Amino acid sequence: MPGAFEGETVTRRNFMNLTAQGAGIIAVASFTLPALGFAFAPVFTREPVVWQPIGPPSMFPGNTYTTAVITIDPDIGQAGKTIAYVRKRDPGIDTEPEDQYNHFVALSSRCMHLGCPVRYVDAAERFICPCHGGVYNFRGIPVGGPPVRPLDRFYTRVEDGLIQIGPRYSVNFELHRFSPRDPGEPLNGIGQFLYPARFSTAKL
Ligand code: FES
Repeated sequence: MPGAFEGETVTRRNFMNLTAQGAGIIAVASFTLPALGFAFAPVFTREPVVWQPIGPPSMFPGNTYTTAVITIDPDIGQAGKTIAYVRKRDPGIDTEPEDQYNHFVALSSRCMHLGCPVRYVDAAERFICPCHGGVYNFRGIPVGGPPVRPLDRFYTRVEDGLIQIGPRYSVNFELHRFSPRDPGEPLNGIGQFLYPARFSTAKL
């Protein structure tokens, strides 16, 4: 080999080049890999499924909504609490298929336009958003204003005589379930593909 002593398989110049490049790669990796891990690890962490008791079934009749305060992020104190609107399922109006998770309907109070808290007005049987005039009907389906999909819902179940509220999920206008999305992300038609679910919040 030109430039090498007899018996050598690599020149000293190449050996020094490879050594310097290898040291450079190790040095760069030592601070980029931890940073990448720190940035992307939460993306692949699945949130635990938590069920919170909110009271006996008798507290939640089917002809109106009763509010329940639930915790959606236990690490940030009062800011991690939110209100769910809960009522007993009414087969006369709740036409989506019944299963073990919807004997009680629990709606999120977060508007699906930009996330303001909606308020249920009993006399009108409507949810009203104070921010931009979003209006939802009794089932949480938009009937006016800018919201792009129905109010999100929570899984519910009855255990030991108490209603429990579980994870949140999103629905399209047919009330088909989807993994939770953020406000402003439509789920009808191509919307479900334009706004894919996050791994951390897959539906049950
Ligand atoms: S945030 Fe509710 S209508 Fe805009």
